[in-house]
Amino acid sequence: EKVDSQLIVIFGASGDLTGRKLIPSLYELHKRDLLPEKLCVMGAARTEYTDEEFRNIQRENLEHSQKGKELKPGDIDAFLEHICYVSFDSGKSSDYYKLKDRITEKQTALNLPDKVMYYLATPPQMYDLIPQYLQENGMNVAATPEGWRRVIIEKPFGTSLETARALNKKLMSIFDEKEIYRIDHYLGKETVQNILVLRFSNGIFEPLWNRNYVDSVEIKVSETLGVENRGKYYEGSGAMRDMIQNHLMQLMGFIAMESPAVFEAEPLRDEIVKVFRSLRPYKSAEIDLNVVRGQYEGYRQEPQVSPTSTTETYVAMKFFIDNWRWGGVPFYLSTGKKLDEKKSEIVINFKSTPNQLFSGQCSGTSCNKLTIAIQPNEGISLQFGLKMPGAGFEVKQVSMDFKYESLSKVYLPDAYERLLLDAMLGDSTLYARSDALEASWKFIDPILAHWKESGDQNLYPYTPGTKGPKERKPLKVLPRPCICYSK
Ligand code: BG6
Repeated sequence: EKVDSQLIVIFGASGDLTGRKLIPSLYELHKRDLLPEKLCVMGAARTEYTDEEFRNIQRENLEHSQKGKELKPGDIDAFLEHICYVSFDSGKSSDYYKLKDRITEKQTALNLPDKVMYYLATPPQMYDLIPQYLQENGMNVAATPEGWRRVIIEKPFGTSLETARALNKKLMSIFDEKEIYRIDHYLGKETVQNILVLRFSNGIFEPLWNRNYVDSVEIKVSETLGVENRGKYYEGSGAMRDMIQNHLMQLMGFIAMESPAVFEAEPLRDEIVKVFRSLRPYKSAEIDLNVVRGQYEGYRQEPQVSPTSTTETYVAMKFFIDNWRWGGVPFYLSTGKKLDEKKSEIVINFKSTPNQLFSGQCSGTSCNKLTIAIQPNEGISLQFGLKMPGAGFEVKQVSMDFKYESLSKVYLPDAYERLLLDAMLGDSTLYARSDALEASWKFIDPILAHWKESGDQNLYPYTPGTKGPKERKPLKVLPRPCICYSK
């Protein structure tokens, strides 16, 4: 598909996301010849840089992100030609003329069409102000019928149902819903998109993908790093807002949704919102029994973290989706920082056979598991029991593994590459829609409110490098007892 020539403005261009993800992803697209014929990427931030200084910073970022990769000589410089910079205060409406003038200057010089994408890589407090100031300066609508304006908003999208609704309302008064791209980088991950293909392009899984055959579903994202230098952001966020409300909920949506009739943005997003709306809300007395929160030891001493902080760095929760497909099947979600390993995976535990004939059968959670390894060691494996060679009928669990690395030479793009390209193409399939976001906040809000009331009660400490607080245990999928009929 052809990408329109366009101009991309990156607000917050002196920040971490721009240098670590956005510019490197655009460069990868350039390497793969996926960028439009004419492109201008305009960094915008308060810091005073000349175009040259900004390009030099990005050159360093690219040299770092490209370490160990194959590079054509001079290719980074060729890419940097696309980049320029404008210094202005995005928190002051009266300063936007500088941005407007620079856009016009570049559009004229490069003969670009009237197509502009705004990427808000700024602190979240700016997510409603920047669109408002763009509107006040007449920059939210295209000047020609064939032109367009689009806006990409980073997470966190609100901090509660109320704030997410207010932000949606404001954005939708400035841009059309189809012009708003709410990014959740998990949806850009190749392995996450493959959940849809695995489910909806194979006849063998879907008949089993329901309460008749599935015992439970686990979605786990564990990280080894702590909050690093993001203490200030994280204090206002915590694991629930930082990971569960968006990334893990979206993964759950892909696992639990019905097949859309066609693979297009709206039908697919219609199915996701149906899942979120079917989540069984917790009654307040159920929250502590079904949602465990933890904080790693040493978190309160991290930079910009309060010494009495009650922010959670770990969450494990169990819930149900009250619909015909999933009624009665527990879903377990967990995520945490400073755990023992960096790993994101989804496990579908299938029900056991109605009776156990063999010894060793079903000694774990379930005999048959489908594991989708999102990262690292991206792959899919199916576990089942087979007879151990020799006398008797001793069962051993074996697995059939597919690893992405076996598709050697196939390049696994970074999530941001895919998502940036989609937005440039005008495809919002892998972006979150306002109603889904609101539905997921609606589910999460009572938990956050309950925690706010509880202070540090039921906030469990855990030692860095472990699997999380020991109190997570009752929420884990419990191994089934082995009842063997033949000995
Ligand atoms: C981000 C969170 O959205 O996702 C971070 O803000 C987290 O706290 C990161 O570390 C995890 O992403 P990934 O792609 O490394 O799993």
